[in-house]
Amino acid sequence: MREVVGGVVLPRVHGREAELARLAAALEVVARGREQVAMLEGPPGAGKTALLSAAVAVGRRLRFSIISCNCLDQHGEAVVQLSECCPPVWHGGHVLSFGQEFFDRLQRQSARLPVLVAMDNLHQIGGRELCVLSSFVSTLRSRPVMWLLARRGAGRSAAQHHLVPAEGPIDLRIPLGPLPENAVVALAEDLLRAPLQPSCRELVARAEGDPALVTALLEGLRADGLIERRDGAVGPVADRLPRRLLEVVEDRLRLLPTQDRHRIAVAAVLGRGFAPGLLAGRLESSPVALLPTLETAVSLNILRSRGGIVEFSSELFWRAARELIPPAALITLGVAGQAEPEPAELPVPHQLTSIEREIVELVSEGLTNQQIGRRLSRSPHTVNYHIRKLFRKLRVESRAALAAWAQVHTGRAPSVFR
Ligand SMILES: Nc1ncnc2c1ncn2[C@@H]1O[C@H](COP(=O)(O)OP(=O)(O)OP(=O)(O)O)[C@@H](O)[C@H]1O
Ligand SMILES: [Mg+2]
Repeated sequence: MREVVGGVVLPRVHGREAELARLAAALEVVARGREQVAMLEGPPGAGKTALLSAAVAVGRRLRFSIISCNCLDQHGEAVVQLSECCPPVWHGGHVLSFGQEFFDRLQRQSARLPVLVAMDNLHQIGGRELCVLSSFVSTLRSRPVMWLLARRGAGRSAAQHHLVPAEGPIDLRIPLGPLPENAVVALAEDLLRAPLQPSCRELVARAEGDPALVTALLEGLRADGLIERRDGAVGPVADRLPRRLLEVVEDRLRLLPTQDRHRIAVAAVLGRGFAPGLLAGRLESSPVALLPTLETAVSLNILRSRGGIVEFSSELFWRAARELIPPAALITLGVAGQAEPEPAELPVPHQLTSIEREIVELVSEGLTNQQIGRRLSRSPHTVNYHIRKLFRKLRVESRAALAAWAQVHTGRAPSVFR
């Protein structure tokens, strides 16, 4: 059964079972009367809010009194929004100063019941609020309070320094990395409520464990009407990125300062992976000068570093980042017309997949998508998807040109691949 809060069905978390079990164990320590501090850390979209929500659901089942807060940066001022619901349902919230009012409430509630304070987006608040938070944590050491904090980033953060006073360390630190492959498939099947076609498994694998990308990709494909069901399994009918995914990638890129964003756009033009020296050359800069940009992009899970090469964190992210570059900017970068890297040589027939070979043959015979679909037991949508892909692969723009290509490569038409 799904957890429902305020009429909203909370998403199920996949692949975070071990983390959730550690949090549940910490909640049990609190239920026995000892304060605990847990910190969820990870880049944007790693699933911090999702895990926080799941832990709150566990807390509710253990009869904790819940205080949910979202930290916000409102026009440069840090505020803490209190929600009567559990995150990520923020609409019922009111803003309160992170001071006496909050503390009084916490003291009152923890005198009666164990309390779970779920505080999301801690990275939004600054030194002053962190000091206040730290003093609350120290004062309530002997109270049954579970502090469940979530923040972007990892490791040596300001939050850590403020929250690790002499009184004691953070009890539980939970870094959130990419989801394992089987969890991504489970997430996708959960979202689409059906098993995945092999092509869909391949597609979601290109998000390389980034749950925000998988979610945006599948919700976007569904919203754009680009998901089909065949033989009980679901998959995409077109090889194009949905708008929703582009928006999520754009939002993540917008977390970079403008200059860094431009640099990353140039990097996207160079390819999925690039040597920092090459990027520096393109920017008429030096690799050392680029380091802060690369570090920031890595911390936001835009890039990752692998054996001397820096690459985009996933193929899907790279494709989207490339697609987001305005054509005018490509002209400025001297790469107009190269938005998709093309193979140096056109493929020859045996380099096409078997379904592509069959489709070329049937197109050459003059069949419509519907007729081809019937012959191959595929939907006309799927046939269309393969034909569009063939157009790109063979750099042709019409069915007649496709048939002509078949004839040139085989010397006979129409049964070109027999
Ligand atoms: N383990 C998971 N299982 C299922 N869905 C997940 C999981 N992790 C994340 N998601 C989904 O991925 C999307 C992004 O997750 P979420 O908002 O929790 O990320 P976040 O780390 O809080 O990001 P941000 O730093 O931007 O707040 C959401 O739609 C969420 O429901
Ligand atoms: Mg979040």
